[in-house]
Amino acid sequence: MYGLINKSLRAMIIENHGIDCWDSVLEKSGVPIESFVSMQRYEDDVTYALVGAASEKLGASAEECLEAFGYYWATVVAPGSYGLLLNSTGRNLLEFLNHINHLHDRITTTFIGYMPPYFEVSHTENRVALRYESKRQGLTPFVIGILKGLAERFGSTLTFEPLEKIEVSEGETSVIHFVIN
Ligand code: HEM
Repeated sequence: MYGLINKSLRAMIIENHGIDCWDSVLEKSGVPIESFVSMQRYEDDVTYALVGAASEKLGASAEECLEAFGYYWATVVAPGSYGLLLNSTGRNLLEFLNHINHLHDRITTTFIGYMPPYFEVSHTENRVALRYESKRQGLTPFVIGILKGLAERFGSTLTFEPLEKIEVSEGETSVIHFVIN
């Protein structure tokens, strides 16, 4: 994944737990990279190793770490570096969710050859089913964290309902059910 992702993970850990904690996460991960370049591509294994090491160090599950990272992405990283893009993606949560694919499409010239996920939204009034399709595995909790952060941005409250995992031969597909209030 693009270095921006690993860099943001580092920023979150330093902000919440301090630089010493990050140093020990990096050491535990076995990733031999001191500093990430935002616009450089790294193997996905790098990101997974960092999340695994953070989970071990912080005594939280990988899912919890990914969710916290999604929340940080939506409330700190994206508004800080991509505020205009966020503002033009939607004026409320539902409108925003309907345009996430478009958001990722708009930055394909910046993140050349990247592999963003694909989303499909269906809803009846405020009851939403968000289908998430990724070529990668295990990142649904990251999406849930982003949703929680976006809900805060739009002043909405989300009530999550049981997650639906779809059997696929490659990557991960899930349907996240929630109600927006
Ligand atoms: C300012 C806004 C955003 C930017 C600049 C951005 C950019 C990126 C980049 C660079 C990647 C890495 C992909 C790769 O390197 O192959 C990524 C992945 C991802 N993005 Fe976005 N994104 C944004 C907003 C969002 C939003 C609102 C969502 C909503 C849920 C989202 C969901 C994801 C997910 C789940 C991944 C992980 C990759 C995967 O699932 O396979 N992103 N994004």
